[in-house]
Amino acid sequence: MNTIIEKTRLSEDVYKMVFQAPYIAEARKAGQFLIIQLDTDFGERIPLTIADADEQAGTITIIFQAVGKTTRMLGDLNQGDSIANVLGPLGTPTDIRRVGTVVCVGGGIGVAPLHPIVQAYKQAGNKVITIMGARNKDLLILEEEMRAHSDEVIICTDDGSYGRKALVTQPLKELCEQGIVDEVTAIGPPIMMKFCAETTRPFGVHTMVSLNTIMVDGTGMCGGCRVTVGDETKFVCVDGPEFDAHLVDFDNMMLRQKAYKEQEQHADHACNIGLDVRTPQGGTK
Ligand SMILES: Cc1cc2nc3c(=O)[nH]c(=O)nc-3n(C[C@H](O)[C@H](O)[C@H](O)COP(=O)(O)OP(=O)(O)OC[C@H]3O[C@@H](n4cnc5c(N)ncnc54)[C@H](O)[C@@H]3O)c2cc1C
Ligand code: FES
Repeated sequence: MNTIIEKTRLSEDVYKMVFQAPYIAEARKAGQFLIIQLDTDFGERIPLTIADADEQAGTITIIFQAVGKTTRMLGDLNQGDSIANVLGPLGTPTDIRRVGTVVCVGGGIGVAPLHPIVQAYKQAGNKVITIMGARNKDLLILEEEMRAHSDEVIICTDDGSYGRKALVTQPLKELCEQGIVDEVTAIGPPIMMKFCAETTRPFGVHTMVSLNTIMVDGTGMCGGCRVTVGDETKFVCVDGPEFDAHLVDFDNMMLRQKAYKEQEQHADHACNIGLDVRTPQGGTK
């Protein structure tokens, strides 16, 4: 089960993996994610978006950036290896309707979770304008796939090595000024999503963001992923991951994301919740 069928390196630290998960492939919808655990012996559980699925073949695709211990371990797996635990599909699917012109904004690895959403908006009969941003040309992913599902693609790089030398908020503002935008979805680093929200706010354009808070159980029981949306506390794993960008308290979310910075710097951190746990061999750890 969960056997890796295909592994491709998309850029220096970004991998695409296709693996067997027939039940998830059948059930998943745009916007949903998985929780993956590689080391079943108290290993970290990490959320990754379902970037694509093939119902017939019974496979799903993930695209991930190797940023820390678990994503690096995942990047070291190869075709034929298995992913120990995969839980999903989790999260509320994206509310896809025919609204007219939708602008989809993806920053960095945020282009991966944006991919199924762009596909679904196009299939629903919308005009889709995709804005993709990266620090430089080499870090840009999924350009061909995004062009296949978008009416127009605008590429921005921070250093001007490809497309426009601009932040993604610049073309977003220009499109809003033309008065042609009915809805926006933005996925990327929290700071990018915050500024996309501030860009569309004065124009009153409904804007959705997909939040990447720290997640632990992914089932709404641990409280790890809580975020303030309007006057309410929401759990991103079950109430989201998508929310109205104009209501999200991004500053509080960014503060909470830094909570485990120190532990993350130690690559061998493991969650034992400070308990004595009995092992199958009769000992404790
Ligand atoms: C709903 C959702 C969908 C996501 N989809 C993707 C995706 O498609 N591709 C992708 O590359 N990344 C995605 N991420 C981010 C991904 O979960 C983190 O990069 C990953 O957890 C890092 O783990 P690590 O052990 O390699 O790194 P660590 O060294 O442990 O952490 C590096 C950074 O990753 C984040 N992180 C760590 N653990 C978690 C956790 N349990 N939950 C959430 N964030 C964490 C933190 O911001 C941390 O600063 C998604 C996150 C969420 C919440
Ligand atoms: S991850 Fe535990 S409540 Fe959401």
